[in-house]
Amino acid sequence: MLAKKPPMGWNSWNTFTNKIDEKLIMETADAMVDNGLLDAGYEYLVIDDCWSEKQRDENGMLVADKEKFPHGIKYVADYVHSKGLKFGMYSCCGTLTCAGYPGSFGHEFDDAKYFAEVGVDFLKYDNCYKTKMENYLAYMRMSVALRSCGREILFSACNWGTDNVHSWARAVGAHMYRSTFDITDTFESIKELSESQKDKLVYSAPGCYNDIDMLVTGLHGEGSIGFGHGCTEANYRYHFAFWCLASSPLMIGCDVRNLSKENKALLTNPLLIRINQDEEGRPPIFFGDYEYHAFKVLSNNEYAIGFFNPLDKERKITFNFHDLGLMPNDRCVLKITDAFTGEDLGVYRDYFSAHVGSGDAKMFIATPVLL
Ligand code: GAL
Repeated sequence: MLAKKPPMGWNSWNTFTNKIDEKLIMETADAMVDNGLLDAGYEYLVIDDCWSEKQRDENGMLVADKEKFPHGIKYVADYVHSKGLKFGMYSCCGTLTCAGYPGSFGHEFDDAKYFAEVGVDFLKYDNCYKTKMENYLAYMRMSVALRSCGREILFSACNWGTDNVHSWARAVGAHMYRSTFDITDTFESIKELSESQKDKLVYSAPGCYNDIDMLVTGLHGEGSIGFGHGCTEANYRYHFAFWCLASSPLMIGCDVRNLSKENKALLTNPLLIRINQDEEGRPPIFFGDYEYHAFKVLSNNEYAIGFFNPLDKERKITFNFHDLGLMPNDRCVLKITDAFTGEDLGVYRDYFSAHVGSGDAKMFIATPVLL
């Protein structure tokens, strides 16, 4: 089974848009390994839109851009595989991709064959230039094509959360599905996307995960979705903590060849990733309307507890153990560990509080201990 856990990797779009080529992809593969990203779980390297020629060949097959990829895609895929990574590509359910390159509609079986031949392990499938075909059927067509192409390919549907995708993505065979429009490297966008998914996460589970869009951590206002603003490090913590608690796929979008020490530490944080990758893939439950907290049941008698402060002042956030159904005289206390630092914070009864800075988040792992 694919996507037993939320898929993790890197995607070219957020930083590079159409400025992609063989050299960038191979250097990125090197950097994913050298920076410990692969070891942390980021296994898919995905080339997004703008990789092909504008026309198919005389047999109707896709052709890689000859200037960007002079040795062809298989050469790049082989290199990516040689580093121990998996290789991903992009197409679209319409007649053109969002950037105007050939889309797969009417060519699904040709394209699945092409992807299998060049060694693709992951296909992101976009939603521009659609035909009159119902949206779920357009995705179903590619799902059938991929499942019959002779290679195991993870199917990442990207219809931006439209057409009630949460109600059919799993049914059509997708392994993850975009549930939002495109993220930007701003705290407004992080807040908006996370708020919009709070009541949708119950649909996400092993085999098919709700994808809140790619990570902006480390963009710092650069790239095509940076718009010169960028987020604070606190905002990136909020972003990563929410995506981890939500079991969202974690697709890095920054230039990993130039990753700061702080962002590398965040993106490879072992306890946060453990929360994201928990094999039970359970949804969080949220409490509070402004600053809020949430918990997620993990395997092995653990609970992840996230504290989120989207407001413009520091706030004290309190997790009452009553939210877990505990009562004051129960023979049960919680041992709390700070998930960001790994620090053991001791044993608590009834409640646990922490101060959280503006636009920041904290995350804890709680283990019930019977007295
Ligand atoms: C958008 C998609 C982005 C990116 C872009 C490429 O529709 O949401 O993530 O893939 O198309 O043109």
